[in-house]
Amino acid sequence: MENEAKLTAGAMTTFGIAVAALVVLPYIQVSDVQPPDGLKPYTSAETRGRDSYIANGCVYCHTQQPRDRSFAPDAERGWGRVTTPGDYYYDKPHLLGSMRTGPDLMNIGVRQPSMDWHLGHLYQPRAYVPDSIMPSYPYLFEIKDEAEDGEIIVRLPPKFAPEGKIVVARPEAVDLVKYLQSLDRSYPILPPDPQGVEGTDKAAE
Ligand code: HEC
Repeated sequence: MENEAKLTAGAMTTFGIAVAALVVLPYIQVSDVQPPDGLKPYTSAETRGRDSYIANGCVYCHTQQPRDRSFAPDAERGWGRVTTPGDYYYDKPHLLGSMRTGPDLMNIGVRQPSMDWHLGHLYQPRAYVPDSIMPSYPYLFEIKDEAEDGEIIVRLPPKFAPEGKIVVARPEAVDLVKYLQSLDRSYPILPPDPQGVEGTDKAAE
């Protein structure tokens, strides 16, 4: 009986340490994170776009977390500076991702701001990147004889446009692109204040 009590106590202690290290400490670390000055909340169109980013599984192939130089040459790839917790303030759930079958998209709004390009690329990635293995998303578009008022016509390279017809973007496609355009974490982030070190406060000098 004594051994069972020791075993249970040992298991509980190990479990307690693990919860403290993996749940409690990280929670305390990020609980007072504030949004950086340059970060705007998502608009309702961008939020709908974000939902279809999740629904269409974009997160399975694209990360949203440019890494530090010591982990990967993301800065040289043009994917932007290392992100900080505040950059994800409005992201619930966050879409960090773990697979990089395609490029990181945290700053795609800066590298590729064109609505036309994004719509064309979602309709047919191979129209822009011949060897792309990204799936096409034809159900976000409609093939028609002519566009109605307010509809956005997708401008495709001639070889990829359906003959005698036009491709128009459904509202889901437009919202998704608005979300991609909003992915911009290029504003500057100041390094955190060296905490508790006296004499480092420039304003007080
Ligand atoms: C099977 C994996 C896969 C999935 C799923 C996927 N992509 Fe991609 N994506 C790629 C690859 C590979 C590339 C690089 C080639 C290219 O540009 O087509 C890419 C490129 C991109 C680019 C251009 C990035 C750049 O830096 O030029 C954007 C934007 C993009 N994807 C958005 C999306 C969106 C939005 C979705 C969901 C609707 C999605 N992707 C789903 C694999 C994927």
